[in-house]
Amino acid sequence: MVRRLCAVGAILCFLNLVLKVRDVVAVTKENPRVCIVGAGYSGLGAARYLKDYGVDNFKIFEATKHIGGTWRFDPHVGTDEDGMPLFTSMYENLRLNTPKLTMEYVGYPFPEGSQSFPTGVCFHKYLKRFAKDFDLIKHIQVDTKETRTEDCDFVVISNGEFSSPVWPKFEGLKLFKGKIIHSHDYKDPEYYRNRRVLLVGAGPSGLDLAMHLSNVTAKLVHSHHLKYNQPFFSDTYVKKPDIRKFTSNGVYFQDNSFEQVDDVIFATGYDFSYPFLDKSTGITATGKFVLPLYQHTVNIRHPTMMFVGVLQKVFNCVKEAQGEYAAALIAGKFKLPSQEQMLKVWMTHVHDVMAKGSSIIDVNDIPDSTGMYYYFGNLTAEAGIYRRPKVFSAIRDHTVQFRLENLLTFRDYDYKIIDEEHFVKWYNPRPGNPCPFDE
Ligand SMILES: Cc1cc2nc3c(=O)[nH]c(=O)nc-3n(C[C@H](O)[C@H](O)[C@H](O)COP(=O)(O)OP(=O)(O)OC[C@H]3O[C@@H](n4cnc5c(N)ncnc54)[C@H](O)[C@@H]3O)c2cc1C
Ligand SMILES: *[C@@H]1O[C@H](CO)[C@@H](O)[C@H](O)[C@H]1NC(C)=O
Ligand SMILES: *[C@@H]1O[C@H](CO)[C@@H](O)[C@H](O)[C@H]1NC(C)=O
Repeated sequence: MVRRLCAVGAILCFLNLVLKVRDVVAVTKENPRVCIVGAGYSGLGAARYLKDYGVDNFKIFEATKHIGGTWRFDPHVGTDEDGMPLFTSMYENLRLNTPKLTMEYVGYPFPEGSQSFPTGVCFHKYLKRFAKDFDLIKHIQVDTKETRTEDCDFVVISNGEFSSPVWPKFEGLKLFKGKIIHSHDYKDPEYYRNRRVLLVGAGPSGLDLAMHLSNVTAKLVHSHHLKYNQPFFSDTYVKKPDIRKFTSNGVYFQDNSFEQVDDVIFATGYDFSYPFLDKSTGITATGKFVLPLYQHTVNIRHPTMMFVGVLQKVFNCVKEAQGEYAAALIAGKFKLPSQEQMLKVWMTHVHDVMAKGSSIIDVNDIPDSTGMYYYFGNLTAEAGIYRRPKVFSAIRDHTVQFRLENLLTFRDYDYKIIDEEHFVKWYNPRPGNPCPFDE
């Protein structure tokens, strides 16, 4: 399982180092130049708020030729048609796993009456429409393959968090002769038709692929340790515990049972990845954590650098709030506390994480729904940004549980917020419902 990467003592050691460094804190400049990294949901959201706050001197740098980030389905595997690495992890027939109201930008909902769990393709169309309607396209610099240097007064980093696959290590894995992929590279079930497939992991991708594959494969062997209300997938679906070791044609599990399989899919999650940040940024980023960030957003050592999307286990719309917070800071709507004060706040957070028995790898998590509500509250109290009402906490509590209890049907419900604290949901299956953004 997760390794304890850092003991409390080691963190304090690290902090002493940080505290010795004094930086010049952000300037308020007439017309600051802002550089946003990545044109996905987070980058586009931040850009919209820059415009709202009257900052027009910004550019979104996008590593691919496309906008919409991970929501764009690309049939290529590994690299795109230009040989550039593919960041998107989208697959065919994906539908949202959280109701769309957790992902819609403020004041920019889907049309009334559209289903709560549209396809990923549809959500991508929504993002493209958003970029167009807020006149963001002209600010986006897509990949040109040339290298040049840009000066930026502020940098907003929003390069996504689900692009760098976690590859688990197992004894004998090298011996295995079949095809092995990570769910990052999974596109559609066709290759797996009538084959015996080992699927590893039961996070959102693992459970989704179990549904997509179980009636296609000759046998689907699913290794995971999630406790949930497992539905009937198919007669050929087999649940297995964690893996012990691989052989050339199969796999042993912790209960010593063996299964012969043709292919393996690791749905084993993603690491943070900031290959473009060097030491001078003052950020410690590993695959598992990014620190020290004030309000999970501001680089404490260089407060002109902000991160959108590092915070985990919260609804997508938190990324939008972080984008608004960053924009408000850049526009000079509020001032950050001193670096000492920011570190103090951050250390209190680290202390709380540790006190709960977690380790430093949880430093970017808000594990419960009240935490998410208070996080919105903290951003609002400091920066005056829009606060999502309490009902979002109720929706988070409900949907996380409901999905695990009704895996095959949870997307057949529609959700509606009725007031600050309450929502309603009703059964309304609409397979093949058209996307409201189709031309
Ligand atoms: C398969 C899948 C399903 C998901 N389903 C849901 C869901 O149902 N509900 C939900 O709430 N969340 C879901 N998510 C989470 C999803 O990550 C967020 O919804 C959100 O889209 C993330 O947006 P982002 O802009 O932070 O990152 P991304 O969408 O990853 O966008 C990042 C952008 O940055 C670009 N980029 C990367 N590196 C660089 C660089 N060095 N320079 C310039 N640009 C760079 C990328 O090309 C990309 O365009 C899902 C994620 C995945 C992978
Ligand atoms: C697979 O097909 C069977 C029989 O039609 C059905 O009962 C089951 O729900 C299907 N499985 C999934 C995951 O859709
Ligand atoms: C800020 O967060 C803390 C910790 O979660 C919480 O106790 C506090 O009430 C929050 N502030 C607001 C205004 O919500």
